[in-house]
Amino acid sequence: MPFNIAIDGPAGAGKSTIAKKVAEQLKYIYVDTGAMYRAMALYMLNKGIDPSDSETVAKECDGADISIKYIDGLQCVFLNGENVNDKIRTNEVSDAASKTSTVKEVRRKLVHLQQELAKSTDVVMDGRDIGTAVLPAADLKIYMTASSRVRARRRYDELTAKGVSCRLVDIEKEIIERDERDMNREESPLKQAEDAILLDTSDMTIEEVASAILALKSEREV
Ligand code: DC
Repeated sequence: MPFNIAIDGPAGAGKSTIAKKVAEQLKYIYVDTGAMYRAMALYMLNKGIDPSDSETVAKECDGADISIKYIDGLQCVFLNGENVNDKIRTNEVSDAASKTSTVKEVRRKLVHLQQELAKSTDVVMDGRDIGTAVLPAADLKIYMTASSRVRARRRYDELTAKGVSCRLVDIEKEIIERDERDMNREESPLKQAEDAILLDTSDMTIEEVASAILALKSEREV
């Protein structure tokens, strides 16, 4: 039976950095489900569809063929045959993904894909609903969070390091808005699964969080 680790939490909590690290150490596959929702949002934007127009998004989502391939150990998301990894990390796509991911038909399609991936392989999967909806029987569930100020600061540092000029207050505002939408939507809202372990990473280093998860994983195996 494959060992499945589910990591959920709000944007900027450090999920992908940590999940990637833990997967590398364990030689598991890392599955970034947010990238799939981003690819779907990109599909809608490319077609000129308003991401808030749920009815049209629901009708059109079947035209998006989304798949995952691993190239040199890196997860690559393909949208209708094109590797879109470099196109899904913009603010526009972040905002659109948070809207299109509220649509039931979108979720049904992507959840199915995620469940298929975890069926036969050891995975570390991160997202918003992994422990609650995608892998409710996961062997280890982590709910990772951090204060909105700390999360905004991490994003700010990332952007300014890339030479992008931005304001911390604006980023924090966007993060709070995104949390609101992710936590209050009808379909699989972001929430801590009852059997998930809460990790507040506000005052922890990446190494500390990764070690904590690896220790929990070893405990589960005994
Ligand atoms: O983790 P991320 O920022 O790349 O996710 C982009 C958006 O996709 C985010 O607003 C929430 C949504 N998402 C989701 O609804 N369910 C998931 N399992 C992963 C992401």
